[in-house]
Amino acid sequence: MTASLATFGVYIHVPFCSRRCDYCAFATWDDKAGQIEAYMAALLAEVRSATDTGMPLAETVFVGGGTPSLVPGESLAKVIEAVRKSPDAEVTVECNPDNVTESLLCTYRDAGVNRISLGVQSMVPHVLAGLGREHNPDNVVAAVETIRRVGIPTFNLDLIYGAHGESVDDWQTTLRSALALEPPHVSAYALTVEAGTPLADDSVRHPDDDDQADKYPIADAALEQAGLANYEISNWAVAGHESRHNRLYWAQADYRGFGCAAHSHLSGRRWWNVRTPERYVDLVNRGESTEAAFEQLTTDQVAAERVQLTIRRREGAALADIAPERRVEIDEMANDGLLVLEDDRVMLTPRGRMLANAITLRLT
Ligand SMILES: C[S@@+](CC[C@H](N)C(=O)[O-])C[C@H]1O[C@@H](n2cnc3c(N)ncnc32)[C@H](O)[C@@H]1O
Ligand code: SF4
Repeated sequence: MTASLATFGVYIHVPFCSRRCDYCAFATWDDKAGQIEAYMAALLAEVRSATDTGMPLAETVFVGGGTPSLVPGESLAKVIEAVRKSPDAEVTVECNPDNVTESLLCTYRDAGVNRISLGVQSMVPHVLAGLGREHNPDNVVAAVETIRRVGIPTFNLDLIYGAHGESVDDWQTTLRSALALEPPHVSAYALTVEAGTPLADDSVRHPDDDDQADKYPIADAALEQAGLANYEISNWAVAGHESRHNRLYWAQADYRGFGCAAHSHLSGRRWWNVRTPERYVDLVNRGESTEAAFEQLTTDQVAAERVQLTIRRREGAALADIAPERRVEIDEMANDGLLVLEDDRVMLTPRGRMLANAITLRLT
């Protein structure tokens, strides 16, 4: 289940959206559509150059954003095809339900895409409006039908809970409507307030901790009952449909990111590209490095991050990875019903999953 250290993944960033959602702090722009063509050409050039200089075979490819489904399917297909992949690689593209058409998905499928991640967030129109989202929930139903019709074998639905104006009934409606589509994978995130976003400036719309603490167990129960097992705090899947790309990150494996603001990790060296598409395109066109900065992880950092990442997964963290002097804390948290200790592994209980950040601080 755990990705081996030999595993290698590729992330491709597409920094364009038709409209910026009020809560989103990702590197994406809604006023730079004029740069799409030059950006896709630069992505292709960077991927080809890495491939020519010995980039390992990718076990997973994840195209994220932004809104990858906004750029012409053929140009994205060329970039995906340029990545050398293992024959059974997982290849995911994040899509906005509004952009999904049969011809777009056929183009993806023919380029080797075998997983779609749909940004659903909510199935209730007034909740979507409160999030500053523009899509119509009916488009989610149509998008899932199209994914199935063209034969893309698996997909994920991204949901967000805790938006202003979302009642518990609204959240149950979202879960019920999403589960009616029989998704093999669901990610459900607590809405977070990110600095610099319109949501951050509007305290009336800030999420309420207690409301989110009520909604997480509702999601967990509904998803588990529908046959999707929780395998990481925010992720549930039918067996065999877990995201291999996410598992690779959680296993601290190597990955290479292409595009502006993309992060890479190779044997303890982590680096990230320049943030804006124009700087990225300019550097690629001049044949210069797109790296903005890097850090060399220390042994202590690697060890602490291992616990932070592994404790979030169903299989938990290895006791051997946690400093022996934390044993008292572990026993205390186990007594408080936040952790269980089983076969030399430490796992979060459902209640512990909601307090994961505080628990991790006590373990590292
Ligand atoms: C960067 S988005 C890209 C997907 C696509 N553009 C979309 O939004 O439909 C990936 C996912 O991150 C989640 N996300 C982004 N900002 C968030 C926030 N502030 N709080 C919680 N989840 C967030 C959303 O669920 C979103 O689907
Ligand atoms: S949440 Fe998705 S669609 Fe909305 S601005 Fe961010 S990347 Fe774009």
